[in-house]
Amino acid sequence: MKPLYLFANWKMYLDHDQSVALAKSLASELPKHASRATFAVFPSDLALTSVQSIMAKAKIAVGAQNVYWIEEGGYTGATSVEMYRKVGCEYALVGHSERRHIFKETNVEVRKKMEAILADGMTSVLCVGETAHERKENEADVVIETQLRAAYTDLLWPKGRELIIAYEPVWAIGTGQSCDPDEAERVAMLIDRDVRALLGDVKPIILYGGSVRADDVRGYLSEKYLQGVLVGGASTKTETWLEIVENS
Ligand code: PGA
Repeated sequence: MKPLYLFANWKMYLDHDQSVALAKSLASELPKHASRATFAVFPSDLALTSVQSIMAKAKIAVGAQNVYWIEEGGYTGATSVEMYRKVGCEYALVGHSERRHIFKETNVEVRKKMEAILADGMTSVLCVGETAHERKENEADVVIETQLRAAYTDLLWPKGRELIIAYEPVWAIGTGQSCDPDEAERVAMLIDRDVRALLGDVKPIILYGGSVRADDVRGYLSEKYLQGVLVGGASTKTETWLEIVENS
């Protein structure tokens, strides 16, 4: 059986106490499924240390939703990769579409974050994906290839470091409009081919994200190139997340 990655992006849905409550219930439930999957949660910064101390006992990883590439200094509102690592984060999302589209984060900034995460030793989860307009104009593949090139060209990928990419079509995120699994698989094959061309002998771990639900998660996971899911809304309630985990 291929290794399975079930990642939960809590975005800005839960405050500190709600995050702690969810972490406690997941910490008691998820270890039952631990042999099947690698779990990670990406809580709000405010809840990170509390969630991390709960999750550490249950061997569930914690990650940052966003990072800044400079180590420390006068950067109001920013948090560096090193600071996240020091509170126990193993993973960091990079280039999530909400960062790219709402906060106007560019491919150049994505690259700086990627380099900082790589240098620090954390594992990046690069998010790529096209908008509805780009898909309609048949530009999806070009957009994704550009995002991959910007992130990885000429990087020296350390041996053994996981390279994780989430294919998240922007039109499928938070809309209830999920991508057809065969189309997600086609894009995953493209990602796999491009990453190998850019970095040589590195096998990417490819996840799908965008309105994943308990009743369609299996469709993605039965595809050859998809090894997991990155889930937003449905991962912020114990019940809906456990249903997804059980069906995975
Ligand atoms: P969603 O979000 O599951 O709420 O569509 C996915 C994501 O943004 O990672």
